[in-house]
Amino acid sequence: MLIEIDERYCIGCGRCVDDCVGANLEVEGVTARAKGSCILCGHCVAVCPTGAVSIPSYDMADVEVCSPASATIDAHTLLRAIKSRRSVRDYLPNAVEQEALRLVLEAGRYTATAKNAQGCRFIVVQDELDELKRLVWSGIEDLLALPADDKPRWVKLYKPFLRDAQAGKQEFLFRNAPAVAFVAADRADDAGLAAQNMELVAASLNLGALFNGYLCRAAEELPAVKAFLQAEDRPLQICMLLGHPAVSYRRTAPRRPGDFVVK
Ligand SMILES: Cc1cc2nc3c(=O)[nH]c(=O)nc-3n(C[C@H](O)[C@H](O)[C@H](O)COP(=O)(O)O)c2cc1C
Repeated sequence: MLIEIDERYCIGCGRCVDDCVGANLEVEGVTARAKGSCILCGHCVAVCPTGAVSIPSYDMADVEVCSPASATIDAHTLLRAIKSRRSVRDYLPNAVEQEALRLVLEAGRYTATAKNAQGCRFIVVQDELDELKRLVWSGIEDLLALPADDKPRWVKLYKPFLRDAQAGKQEFLFRNAPAVAFVAADRADDAGLAAQNMELVAASLNLGALFNGYLCRAAEELPAVKAFLQAEDRPLQICMLLGHPAVSYRRTAPRRPGDFVVK
């Protein structure tokens, strides 16, 4: 059974039917009934005024009573948080606390996905960061050592990064972040949206983050790194450094005027 409707509580109001994206529910007599296929988006659970609907394949204990987002956070506060967020490129050595990591990951897990695929894998490396670094740098070094004709074009850009890492300097890939998060997903938009929510929750916890396209590319291109990350057959779409910022910002950063079309 994809969706269960408890007839003791269903009042046949039809809200679940009206809100179902797949026309998968109908009211028969006084109770709603599930029919046909379903993307398990959970709207029927969320909209039911009496809590009569459940989806057995999910952990229903996860479901919380909620109020509109506008009652939780006001637009000016949220926009201020968005404007105040910065890409952090220098970190304190402190580890990211487990509870903070959990909240950041939950932000990713609860983000919308196309067709409700929920196909993102969220990978956090903190305890095994040294091994990740070793695999990345040795993979880059091996490729840079290849004859010019065999060397992939992408890796040439990484030469100065490797040189800095070997010299023990602040380097471009890991900075000195204590943790790195990746999002592996078939769709870049699913991963990007999840990552943005993760970054905002991280910022709300006084954590810094840096989307790192270069590290993401290297991780995707190097098979030993991909295997270590257990991304399996999904492309790594996002890489984000995480940690406690070693830099603080006094004001927001300016931007070009908005390129808006509003009709
Ligand atoms: C998809 C993506 C990839 C990025 N990759 C890198 C990177 O590899 N290295 C880096 O230092 N910054 C990287 N950045 C950070 C941008 O340079 C940064 O967002 C931009 O300069 C604006 O600064 P702000 O994030 O503080 O507003 C990346 C940002 C995004 C969105």
